Order: sequence, then C-alpha cells, then structure tokens
Amino acid sequence: MAILVPGGAGYIGSHTVDRLIENNFDVVVVDNLATGHRSSINKKAHFYNGDIRDKEFLNEVFEKESIDGVIHFAANSIVPESMEKPMKYFDNNVYGMINLLEVMNQHNVKNIVFSSTAAVYGEPKQIPIKETDAKEPTNPYGESKLMMEKMMHWADIAHDIKFTALRYFNVGGAKMDGSIGEDHHPETHLIPIILQVAQGVRDKLQIFGNDYPTKDGTNVRDYVHVLDLADAHILAMQRLLNGGDSQVFNLGSSTGFSNRQMLKTARTITGKAIPAEDAPRRAGDPSTLVADSTKARDVLGWKPEHDNVKDIIASAWKWEQSHPNGYEN
Ligand code: UFG
Repeated sequence: MAILVPGGAGYIGSHTVDRLIENNFDVVVVDNLATGHRSSINKKAHFYNGDIRDKEFLNEVFEKESIDGVIHFAANSIVPESMEKPMKYFDNNVYGMINLLEVMNQHNVKNIVFSSTAAVYGEPKQIPIKETDAKEPTNPYGESKLMMEKMMHWADIAHDIKFTALRYFNVGGAKMDGSIGEDHHPETHLIPIILQVAQGVRDKLQIFGNDYPTKDGTNVRDYVHVLDLADAHILAMQRLLNGGDSQVFNLGSSTGFSNRQMLKTARTITGKAIPAEDAPRRAGDPSTLVADSTKARDVLGWKPEHDNVKDIIASAWKWEQSHPNGYEN
C-alpha cells in the first residue's frame, strides 16, 4: 500500500511520513525542496525531487510507483508572506492542486487527504469554530486553501475522487526524540521564534498586537502537537481506503492560549528569561482561533496524545537545543 506525500520534506509532511512508515505504509515523497529539507525525510521513503506544477514530472512518478492514496502538503503556508505575494500562493497552492487532481484522475487514484487550515474561516463569528461555520479568509493563504478544498469537492462529483480536508489550527512540537522538527527560513511562527530567543540565536520576541479583544489583549490560538496531527492524517487515509466519503475536519485542542501565555509557559519550560516587547499588529491576523474538533474525535476516532501546550513546547525545545541552526540540508 503506497501513499504519495507531496510536500513530505516540510515540517508537518516529514512527521507524517515518519508516522506512516512506523505504521508500515510504503511512502513516496515528492518535494521541490523550496522550503523543505532533504534530511527530514525518513530514509525508508522513496524520494523524488520535483515540483507538482510540473505535470510531466508528476506523471512519471505516478507511472513508476503504485499509488493508492495521496496526502497532500505541498504548498506555501506563511500568512504574512501571502499578504505581500498573493499570486505566489495562487500559483503554487492552487495551480499545484489542479495538476495533482488531474494526474490522480488520469491514473485512477481516488483518495486524497489534504492539509487545510483554520485560516479558511477568517475572523470567526463564534468560538469554538465548527466546520460548518462561515468561511471568509482574511489572507490569500487561507483563500488559496479554501479554493483547493472547493476544487476537491468538484473533483469528487466529476471523477469520484474522495477527499478529507484537515483544517489545522496552530501546529507545534517535534518528534519526541528531537530527531525531526520545525525549521523554516525565515522563521515566522511563534513557538520556534520564542525558543530561538531562549536559545540565544535571536535577541527578543516581538508580540504582534496588544489591543485585541482577548483576555490579555494578545491573539489567542489553539495549539495541536505535530505528532497528533500526523496521526490524524493516517486515520483519515485509512478511512478513505475503507470506502469513506468526502469530509472536512477541524484539528485542534479546543483550548485557546494567548501569545503572552505561550511566552510564560516557554519561560517556565526552558528556565530562560526570553526577552519580549510589544509590537504593532501583524497584517491578516484574526484575533482568536479556537477549534471545535468534536467531529474528528467522533468520526475519525482521533485521540490526541499530547493535548497540552507544555508537551508541544517541551518537544520543540528538545529539537531546538539539538538543532540550533536547523537541518544541515
Ligand atoms: N506572533 C508574534 N510574534 C512573532 C510571531 C508570531 O506575536 O514573532 C504571533 C502572531 O501574531 C499570532 C501568533 O503569534 O498572533 C501565532 O502566529 P504564527 O505565525 O505562529 O501562526 P499563525 O496563527 O499566523 O498561523 C498558523 C499557521 C497557518 C494557519 C494558522 C491557523 O502558520 O498556516 O496558524 O491558525 F493558517
């Protein structure tokens, strides 16, 4: 049973590839290494270096390998960057998905699990957010992912390609042994930035916005451990391979933490001072994002094992300490 993982050299992709292999799947990774890392890919996976927008290349991979399903991560995913370069997001994310669905259809591959995002909701009308709530993205990144979800819906109707869209909230943490973790260039995410300050590779944390309508004025986010997220992909793929229908699930912990609370927890875990200052709001940031993940728990049988920010920050800290400069390649 071979699973194709476009974007398998990225942060969430590499952890999912690792868990798939631990669960005895054959894994084929396709990645252009624009943001991913060759050395983050489990050595038991077959790796093809290429871009999913290159149809000839993608066709070759599907011809050589016997693919039963696709877990799709290959996309740009940085909210602030998408505000500055929206077309980059529509080209890579949306056009990439067009190609992937066309090639899947051509090769009669009928199952896809998709890396979607809470950013499809925009500024929520109610908390916690349910899958059926209004989807009004406040940035091009979220818009591109919503478009990709809609394309899968129509591919299901036209070609019977079944999909599971997993809308992640804020993902953090690393494999518990610290061997793989999060490494973006430039880094924009809260947890790795806090830990880089703790480690001394960065001077201070800037907290973007202190006047949001939240408990302490800073943004509130719902953090989920990358290993729990990886396992949700495997459950979703198994469900599709067993004939499951197309569905959308939120993946979060259903608990919100403010940016200041995250900083405080990181100070406790690392024992470091972690200097921080208030800074202006960052464009495109919704005030509060907290998931209602009841559906994933009920329908997928998803039971997060590391459902607390302490495990998330502690595992990320282990990775950060053993890889202060990230991956070598
Ligand atoms: N933040 C800071 N200082 C920093 C970095 C981040 O204050 O140096 C704040 C942000 O303003 C935000 C919070 O920390 O309030 C979390 O920011 P991240 O960049 O870590 O994550 P986002 O919430 O922007 O985005 C993440 C994923 C997206 C996804 C979104 C959905 O990167 O892909 O969660 O919740 F869409």
